[in-house]
Amino acid sequence: QSRRKFIFNLGIIGTLIIAVLAFIRSFILYIFPRDSKKTFHKYLVSKEGEIPLGEAKEITLGKTPVFVVHLDEGYRVFSGICTHLGCIVQWKQEKNHFYCPCHKGYFDNNGQVIGGPPPRPLDEYRVEVENSLVYMYVQDKKKGPWA
Ligand code: FES
Repeated sequence: QSRRKFIFNLGIIGTLIIAVLAFIRSFILYIFPRDSKKTFHKYLVSKEGEIPLGEAKEITLGKTPVFVVHLDEGYRVFSGICTHLGCIVQWKQEKNHFYCPCHKGYFDNNGQVIGGPPPRPLDEYRVEVENSLVYMYVQDKKKGPWA
């Protein structure tokens, strides 16, 4: 009889411990959301003055092509991957826009769609200029311990 009661109590205590641990985990995630763990990698992409105003420079980041565009308001960096089906876009200097040859997609120099099937603008990276050097920031793809 008491042995059965002991096992029964053990079950209740075990369940309580699991519930408390789950609560603590949720509480920690609430206080320190995973987003706050976002880290970025900084890449030097150009020197100021290297890209004339209104022009773009293509660079490759790993295997991903990106374009650094020099506009009136400063530098912007766009992914060279078309948002339609992932082809590589081309910068057309004479037209001042991006062109995707796969299905005739067009993006203006701000990465916005101006023609063809792409459903959304080109992906854009954060840019900062420090000491006349232009850097882009790429988010690291690490997973946190709570993932
Ligand atoms: Fe670029 Fe289709 S993949 S328009």
